Amino acid sequence: MDPVTAPASATAALPERCDFTVFGGTGDLALRQLLPALYHRDREGQLPAEHRIIGVSRTPVDDDGYRTLVREALSTYVDAADLEDAAVERLLGRLHHLTLDAHEPDDWHLLGGLLKLGDEPHHDTVRVFYLAVAPSLFGPICDRLDQLDVVDARARVVMEKPIGHDLDSARAVNDAVGRVFEEQQVFRIDHYLGKESVQNLLVTRFANTFLEPLWSSHWVDHVQITVAEELGVGERGGYYDQAGALRDMVQNHLLQLLCLVAMEPPTYVGRETVRDEKLKVLQALKPMTGADVDRDTVRGRYTDGLVDGRAVPAYVDEIGDPDSTTETFVAIRAEVQNWRWAGVPFYLRTGKRMDRRVSEIVVVFKEPPHPMFPHAEGTTAANRLHILVQPDEGMRLHLTAKEPGPGGIRLRPVSLDLSYATAFDQRSPDAYERLLMDVVRGNPQLFMRRDEVEAAWSWVEPILERWQASGRRPRPYPAGTSGPTAAGTLLERDGRSWQETDQ
Ligand code: BG6
Repeated sequence: MDPVTAPASATAALPERCDFTVFGGTGDLALRQLLPALYHRDREGQLPAEHRIIGVSRTPVDDDGYRTLVREALSTYVDAADLEDAAVERLLGRLHHLTLDAHEPDDWHLLGGLLKLGDEPHHDTVRVFYLAVAPSLFGPICDRLDQLDVVDARARVVMEKPIGHDLDSARAVNDAVGRVFEEQQVFRIDHYLGKESVQNLLVTRFANTFLEPLWSSHWVDHVQITVAEELGVGERGGYYDQAGALRDMVQNHLLQLLCLVAMEPPTYVGRETVRDEKLKVLQALKPMTGADVDRDTVRGRYTDGLVDGRAVPAYVDEIGDPDSTTETFVAIRAEVQNWRWAGVPFYLRTGKRMDRRVSEIVVVFKEPPHPMFPHAEGTTAANRLHILVQPDEGMRLHLTAKEPGPGGIRLRPVSLDLSYATAFDQRSPDAYERLLMDVVRGNPQLFMRRDEVEAAWSWVEPILERWQASGRRPRPYPAGTSGPTAAGTLLERDGRSWQETDQ
């Protein structure tokens, strides 16, 4: 089967041997997400028999020291019920660590030596290079790998966001990595694409028929996409204050969710076909003029408040910079200018320190075209499909029903609920588990292609520019609320309101 038509499934063949090198191997991402994810997959017997994991960092630890660090990380970040001694020992046995000073050629040669060890009998080794480090290091690391002659046609590089902070810098990062790796060898992570419920969105849309005839401006009134967090910026203030919510969440996660809702059915769900269709959505987003930005976007920033009954400081106090102008909340009214979606607003909203942690997509359908029960009592509401991404995963369809009882018709909203936790009695894997295995298997479907990343930056950039030129500070909202009131006004102006889920 040709690689383009080959199934993009989790059952694709594993290489016999994989060397998985993590730059930033002792960092938070590696210890909190990557190694626990590899542990789970290893426990399920899904890592190649000869799979080595090589942590690279400036931390002065040897292999044993690294194993101790990873053992502690597993006991902290993996549920106790999932920790099995034999599986932990097996994963630890795969680990190596190299202390590397990026400017020290001898250190790099150690890495070259380790990677080439046993090269002869194992010439089919897949080498994965995971860049869990600052983006300014992406290009220099790739150049070094090239000089070491360890990048062959089977090698893969994984890039964590941020990929640039605007279009030019994203292009520069992509160019630098692209000088060493071909595009099909580059895996740009957006962990939202690895979430079970997000993948299920594709299945719901394309493995069923009932939605498709309704999925357009004929029957859809508007779409809402919310990613709300209770957490503040925590230890990541340095990065976040340079980024803000638009770069950190909208440019990637929210736009990817929008793409999956709005994309056309591809000819089949495959490696490039989904990415091709997502790109078309990004290219169809109505470009924002300065006046559009003023009217259709809201920037907010949390002040102190109560989250889950706990007092939390204001953003500026959390990062210790009263002059910061960074936003921690964004709401945007976007439009997809194509045949299917003309005139249907897509309202996006994301924020930190909100009243609860919830990510969901709400598709709000139009009201019935004619009042069929003019004399009925009770209340009706337009049909809504809530696609619940987290914390609970599932779907909820809001309908209108007749309240049981004699003496006329009384209408009442009811819901049809599908909870994945109840429907599937099994552990839902973390996004990184799926994504890391896709890297090992060489399946790029759930990763962002260069043209997607750059199209997303092209749409976002006029918003960033206008905000900067206006010099306005973000609107305040108390921590523990649903954001600035202007975010509500954005919809009220159109005769609509945010649909909050009773998760
Ligand atoms: C990351 C952002 O990409 O996504 C973080 O950088 C954010 O700021 C996180 O907290 C949210 O991810 P999740 O999976 O917890 O919704």
